[in-house]
Amino acid sequence: MLILGIETSCDETAASIISATKKEIRVLSNIVSSQVKLHSPWGGVIPNLAAREHLKNIFPVIQETLKKAKKTSQEIDLIAITEGPGLIPALLIGTSVAKTLAFVWNKPVIGIHHIEGHIYANFIGKKKKIKFPLLGLVVSGGHTQLILMKKHLKYEIIGETQDDAAGEAFDKVARILGLGYPGGPLIEKEAQKIISSRSKKRRFNIRLPRPMLKSPDFNFSFSGLKTAVLYETKKNASRLKNPAYISEMAWAFQAATVEILTEKILGAARKFKPKTLFLAGGVSANQELRNTLRRKVQTSFQRKIICQIPALNYSLDNSAMIATAAFFRFRQAQKKKFNWKKIKTEANLKLTTA
Ligand code: KG4
Ligand code: ZN
Repeated sequence: MLILGIETSCDETAASIISATKKEIRVLSNIVSSQVKLHSPWGGVIPNLAAREHLKNIFPVIQETLKKAKKTSQEIDLIAITEGPGLIPALLIGTSVAKTLAFVWNKPVIGIHHIEGHIYANFIGKKKKIKFPLLGLVVSGGHTQLILMKKHLKYEIIGETQDDAAGEAFDKVARILGLGYPGGPLIEKEAQKIISSRSKKRRFNIRLPRPMLKSPDFNFSFSGLKTAVLYETKKNASRLKNPAYISEMAWAFQAATVEILTEKILGAARKFKPKTLFLAGGVSANQELRNTLRRKVQTSFQRKIICQIPALNYSLDNSAMIATAAFFRFRQAQKKKFNWKKIKTEANLKLTTA
């Protein structure tokens, strides 16, 4: 079946067409129009500015995705739309457009939880050797959760952040270091300078805490780590002018975050014994996180656990992942009427099991 996916929950206007069968989720087109340049002078996303930009771009993006996939609206079998969580003014543009298209084209439409989309990014492509139960680490700008899935669309949250999300901590630390927005890729770039430098010696001997690393539960805390960076930089304010110090602080923060994230998912894997571990969400674009998790899964579990990580372009916000999640929801409940009356728009939408 052909699915049109639409995503406008934050600062990306995205539309894609997937061709989905039991054997393969093939992405025919995946257009993402980013607003990073628009928001970066403010150091974060301004909801009303985002909405105005989505409104300007959404139809051109949908037209382009249809054109690129060489499909017409008549050929679309299902529309998938992110209905939350996210910024209400931004979400409303996507849900209004999806409802209108479903009404005018007379097509079914499914509302998808943004995080469910991130999780299902792992199912894009040819049918993979992903075996249940799955244990996933969801790491985005708003979420840090460990999720156990015994079946498709069944979610058990076994741990989550008690304060900041991992992506939020990347963004806040980048702001403290004067790197700009969004912080994740900028911190990674700075940290990479240290990782790829030949000398292993660090000049500033920065030590950062690993909050809750050894706690017996599977929860996280990143606000203390962020504050530790703030105190360190306040204590050594003059060093903020030194590019070597910035790189080393970025490296130290990234190392602490990656250690906490990977040790927690490995600890949970020992307890819950999943057959597959997966990553999901924007922070999963981080190479150090991807490589460290792959390496640790290999040394701790050899080939007993599969390590599944989305392709880079499906780690970050996109709409192919929303369309993919909709395929699994549709397959499970074909008799249900997925019409435009059911679409919600919720800033704090909770992930629910099908
Ligand atoms: O999933 P996402 O694109 O949007 C949300 O659903 O929130 O995640 C965005 C978050 C931001 O906090 C961003 O700084 C972070 O993901 N991020 C990264 C990287 N790329 C994006 N964090 C670390 N390393 C990266 N390479
Ligand atoms: Zn996201």
